[in-house]
Amino acid sequence: MSAPAAAPWPYPFWIAHRGAGRLAPENTLAAFAVGHAHGYRMFECDARLSADGEVFLLHDDRLERTTDGRGEAVEQPWAALARLDAGAWHGSRHAGERLPRLVEVLAFCRERGCMLNVEIKPAPGDEIRTGRRVAEVLSAEAFATSPLLSSFASAALAAAAEVAPALPRGLLLETFRAAWLDEARALGCVAVIAECAAWTPPTAAQAAAAGLRRLAYTVNDEAEAERLRALGLDSLITDRVDHFVP
Ligand code: G3P
Ligand code: MG
Repeated sequence: MSAPAAAPWPYPFWIAHRGAGRLAPENTLAAFAVGHAHGYRMFECDARLSADGEVFLLHDDRLERTTDGRGEAVEQPWAALARLDAGAWHGSRHAGERLPRLVEVLAFCRERGCMLNVEIKPAPGDEIRTGRRVAEVLSAEAFATSPLLSSFASAALAAAAEVAPALPRGLLLETFRAAWLDEARALGCVAVIAECAAWTPPTAAQAAAAGLRRLAYTVNDEAEAERLRALGLDSLITDRVDHFVP
């Protein structure tokens, strides 16, 4: 039997992690501007929910590392989160940078003809609400190229698929655990996005045979990028927007 055809892949080979990797405060509009200035036209970002259901960008469950706030982000209403400084931790140049709402990032991308990989990053226990809300926000928009949804949380991807079945989905994997292929199939994923070191010739061949697009995060090393390119991967997510030319 021949392999199922892989989904169309309108996305570029290089994707900027959290906007611009480490060159600017991650997951802020300043980061997207820096990534864009380096020629990147697709960005990965981490989307989660405030207590009152606003979808905004933040990697960690807690606020301390990348904002001047304290505590669990999911316990705070958007009005409080919107006042936080999300740039000063990175450097005084970025003081006053705010947490962006997903709709602001979508507007940024639309104005510049850029594409987006929205990683659904639910607080623990908030997987279904987060997957639904992210999919609702994206469903309300029109896109030249559909954003790619991804998550480590299968329940979040399943909830997003119920709301917006046509949005392409990628399953994030730290390792190729036993049931990864069944999970990706059950979720109707078009891609698997694995930690870069987890990709080997057998896993790359298995994913290709299943018709899945293959991505790796976070690729910051030249030799690793070449290894993954030789394995035939479709896209790589990097912090090093000043090193890898998209
Ligand atoms: O989406 C790829 C990558 O961002 C997953 O890991 O922890 O950087 O969100 P993390
Ligand atoms: Mg991420």
